[in-house]
Order: sequence, then structure tokens, then C-alpha cells
Amino acid sequence: MRAYDIILKKRNGGKLTKEEIEFMVNGYVKGEIPDYQMSAFLMAIYFRHMDTEERAIFTEVMANSGDKVDLSSIPGIKIDKHSTGGVGDKTTLVVGPIVASLGVPVAKMSGRALGHTGGTIDKLESIPGFRTSLTEEEFFENVRKIGIAVVGQTANLVPADKKIYALRDATATVDEVSLIAASIMSKKLAGGADGYVLDVKVGSGAFMKTIEQATELAEAMVGIAKSHGKKAVAVLTNMDVPLGKMVGNSLEVLEAIETLKGNGPEDFTQLCITLSAWMCHLAEKGTYEECVQLAKNALESGKAFEKFREFVKYQGGNPEVVDKPKEILPMTDKIVEFTAPEDGYITAIDTEKIGIASNYLGAGRKTKEDTIDYSVGIEIIKKLGDYVKKGEPIAKMYVSEKSDTETARKLLLESYKFSPEKPEHKPIILGIVK
Ligand code: URA
Repeated sequence: MRAYDIILKKRNGGKLTKEEIEFMVNGYVKGEIPDYQMSAFLMAIYFRHMDTEERAIFTEVMANSGDKVDLSSIPGIKIDKHSTGGVGDKTTLVVGPIVASLGVPVAKMSGRALGHTGGTIDKLESIPGFRTSLTEEEFFENVRKIGIAVVGQTANLVPADKKIYALRDATATVDEVSLIAASIMSKKLAGGADGYVLDVKVGSGAFMKTIEQATELAEAMVGIAKSHGKKAVAVLTNMDVPLGKMVGNSLEVLEAIETLKGNGPEDFTQLCITLSAWMCHLAEKGTYEECVQLAKNALESGKAFEKFREFVKYQGGNPEVVDKPKEILPMTDKIVEFTAPEDGYITAIDTEKIGIASNYLGAGRKTKEDTIDYSVGIEIIKKLGDYVKKGEPIAKMYVSEKSDTETARKLLLESYKFSPEKPEHKPIILGIVK
């Protein structure tokens, strides 16, 4: 077999066999296929795509390229959740404790910030003492004892994706449905859960900007999961605005704690209940409607809040964070208001720019080696559809001495659009793919 012939076959629109996909992926991981041939192969996929069968094989070959987690020793149906990435997306911090409090084991691997989007692991690390790297024994022990553990991805989880993702990033081949779906689902399959709830973000703050693109990605991911005998549901959710009000690490933990106390923003609370309900439903705790009620009760009764306290404690974090978040979390007291430049309804927020602005304040990394400033970020005061007067504060920037506040301000200014006409309201849940 030769890489050249496989590239040629895909370039001409052919359907690849399992052996051909294995040859390319495994050969690349072993260093036998050079970057230039893999790049050409990825570009051929970018233009010619893969069918359902090829996608399933591609995902499986990637998932098998490194370590796999075996969760079978944990009793119960393990359902994982995955978000395709957004701005202000702190759902795992709320959904994890809700479902764990309802007896659905959460044995989860999460990621760090990627591009303009934040990462759950970085958010959790803003809690003093919180350990996102546990030994395998600690990880399993925590899930068995309290029903939840969340850790960063292990170094050898899907090495094929690590190598291919870096190449895609440098060769303009990130945004192709088969490649994204296989990249995400290979990591999910290697994580060992029995089923997945996929939160597919749509809009200006998401990788998928249109509902059509997001639906295609959702169908691809659900299709891959099912072809591997796993349960899966994708929820298409609105990312035309930041989720909730807080963007930035400590700020998002603060908002998650408020939500667990029942004081969260409406959109974020609704999304957490929806995702929790689907997870419980896939874990066979009841019909979807019954599970919605269970999730609401877990929030209202304080059960989920207490589970979060336990979760923090078991991973070495200071559990007092749940009672005194503003005192325990690293928070800056330097706040700069961003005010409306004109009168009108807020008709659009370029949410990707809000994510980038937060990074300029220090909430993200400029390079892989860069450190995050947990204390900074953005609080959205006025959202889409709100009427504002010129000079009225619409957002707050939490800044530190290292923040590039001027660039962040410029990005906020570019991000908001105003009009005398009230825009149509868009719900947080845009669709379901099963
Ligand atoms: N997230 C991933 O893990 N992979 C992609 O390709 C895109 C988003």
C-alpha cells in the first residue's frame, strides 16, 4: 500500500477501506507518513468528504491509537457530555453535580481552552487546590464514592488526534464535518462511556456558525456514536450570545455556583436542565420529561449544590469556595465598565470577539506555554434584545495589570450592534438530533 495511491483515491472522490484508513492514520502516528502527505490527505477529505462508514472507521482507528479508559468496573450506565466549544460555557460545572446527585456516574475527561473558547479544566483549576490530574485509582475511587470525577485528558489519549489536529490547524483543514466529528468522537470513545449527550453550539461564538452546519456535525457525531453501539443525543444550542453572563475562569465558577444555588441566569439554567435531563434519560432514569423534573428538583433541593461541594473537596479544592466564592476564588477588584456607544436595542453580539476580548484581558493563553490569569474576564450586563441608552454600562471588564484592556474594549465595541428595531428572540435550545 502507498500513501500516494490513497491520497489519489480520496482526491478523486473514492471511498476508502478500513485498511487504507488504518495505513494513513497509524503510519502518520508512527512517523512513517510525512506531514506533507498527511496534509494532502486531509485536504482531499476536506473537499471530497467521507461517508458514514468511512467516518466510523476513521474515528475508531483514531480512538485505538492510544490508551482507552475502561469504565466497566463502575456500576451503572455512564453517560458523557461534550460541548463543541463556546464562550461562557461552564455547563459541566453544573450538569456534572446535577446528574451525579441523581445517581448517574460522571467519569469525565475535559479539555482546556481552545482558540476563543474556554475550557472546563482551566475553570476548575481556578478553585484553589483543585487537582485536575488524578491517578487512575483516585479517579475511579472518586466516581465510586461520590459519583463524579473530572480530569484533564491523559497524555496518551488519542495521540492520532493530537498530531492530526495540530496539522489541521496549520493547513486550513479544521472546519470539515468528518474531521471535526472524528476528532471529537475518537476522544469520547476512548473515554469509555456508554453514551453521549453532545452540546453542539451554533452561532457567532461557535465553530459552526449556521444551523445547517451544526445539524450536519450533530448528525455525523450521533451517527458515529450509534455505529459503535453507543447511545447518543445532540442538542443544538444558541451561541449567538455568551452563555449566561460571565466569561472568564473564576467568574464562570462563581456563576456556576450561583446557578447551583438556584440563582443562575435563565438561559444557562435552562441549558443545564436540558443537558442533565438527556443524560439521565440515556442512563435510563426515566422518560425525558421525568428527567427534566428530576434535574429541576436536584437544583431546587440543593442536592446538586451539595454534590458540587463534595466534588471540589474530593479533588483537593477548597470546599469553602461554595459558600464564599468571592473570597476564595482569585478575583480582581479592578473593574472597567464598557458603555453603550449609542441608543438602541442590542441586535447582535459577535460572541467570538467577546471570547477573544476576554483572552486579551488574560483569561486565555497566547501560546501553549502561557499561563492563565484566573481572576479576569467579562461580565455581560446587557444581552441581545435589551434596550440601552448611550453611556449606559453594558459589560464589565475585570482586569489586572497585565490585561490589554484597550484591545479588549475595541473588540467589545466591534462586537455589539444596535438598532431602533427590537430583534427577534432566539431560544437557547435550537434543536435535537437523535
Ligand atoms: N474540537 C475538537 O476536539 N476537534 C475538532 O476538530 C474541533 C473541535
